[in-house]
Amino acid sequence: MSAHEIVLLPGDGIGPEVVIEAKRTLQAVAERFSHRFNFTEFPFGGRAIDDFGVPLPTVTLEACRKADAVLMGAVGGPRWDSVAPDKRPERGLLDLRQALKVFANLRPVRLPPHLAAASPLKDSIVGEGVDLVVVRELTGGAYYGPRRRSDGGRRAEDVTVYSVAEIRRVAMVAFRLAAERRGHLASVDKANVLETSRLWRETVNEVAKSFPSVTVEHLYVDNCAMQLVASPRRFDVLLAENLFGDILSDLGGVLAGSLGMLPSASLGEGKAGLYEPVHGSAPDLAGRGLANPVGTILSAAMLLRYSYGLPREATAVEEAVDRVLQKGFGTPDLRGRGGREIGTRQMGELVAGEIRDWRGEDAEGRNAECQDQRG
Ligand code: IPM
Ligand code: MG
Repeated sequence: MSAHEIVLLPGDGIGPEVVIEAKRTLQAVAERFSHRFNFTEFPFGGRAIDDFGVPLPTVTLEACRKADAVLMGAVGGPRWDSVAPDKRPERGLLDLRQALKVFANLRPVRLPPHLAAASPLKDSIVGEGVDLVVVRELTGGAYYGPRRRSDGGRRAEDVTVYSVAEIRRVAMVAFRLAAERRGHLASVDKANVLETSRLWRETVNEVAKSFPSVTVEHLYVDNCAMQLVASPRRFDVLLAENLFGDILSDLGGVLAGSLGMLPSASLGEGKAGLYEPVHGSAPDLAGRGLANPVGTILSAAMLLRYSYGLPREATAVEEAVDRVLQKGFGTPDLRGRGGREIGTRQMGELVAGEIRDWRGEDAEGRNAECQDQRG
């Protein structure tokens, strides 16, 4: 049995607390399903700036390049707000995404009906649950275009650049995903104003020809933001460029009850996938044992599915989380729905316990234990 090499980048703020719980989850998966995971931890973000002077030290980058998968917590915090822009913790994250060539960022937003009370939105809107995936382009657009100051620092520009090739490859990921899901793709742009958006729309329509089973609609980003809160159930897969995807995926946090619930997987051409919760470092919560580890735990589930091709293990993690939440346990950010308030560590331990006990029926109702005996 060969070991899977996983690099952990706990980072800043609540990052270390939530990453420990995701590691606990993966250790429970290793026990339950007889896998071996090798974890190594590396400095990243603000803490790396303190110790090494840069947010993404060479040792960290080299380790990530060699790993099968990278699981990250969060970066940034007020302590590093005044460092030079090219040395900020966030710059380290952007450089890492670019170095790993992870151009497609999958951000599933799921609210099962039994958790609808956790969302601040009315029952008439989310009562029957929400299930959509934002596919965010992650290595292009204004985040990576030319930027500069002129006029003695009194004028600034961040240029949005996209090529057909960049749009096409992320669109392919979104279409494939839509074809496996409910067959609907909503592509987000601002084609009434922006040239990059017009190219985006043309290219998406071109890619659509290869996916006759998927229906496509194009939405302007402002309208899309409104539709997301007004009728989230009409969405299946949402495809957006980097900046629009960043903004819209935080909106997903409102749909799911808390930003702390949302996982993400960043995938691309390279060997390693990068897995990170959608939330930030939440400096006000750090060190208090109150942060919601579910986003990171579910990111670990995505790691199992996408980096290792272990869908059953991934499902076990997702079902374990569901079961703990269904029993009424939740961190303080889920307070809105009532239930029993617990801390970060307790949440992680309950999920790990459910995984160890997992008997697992998959979608067809076959018993996973039987499969074990057969295979
Ligand atoms: C995210 C975050 C990052 C981003 C920041 C921390 C650079 O907001 O992953 O959504 O903008 O991509
Ligand atoms: Mg964001």
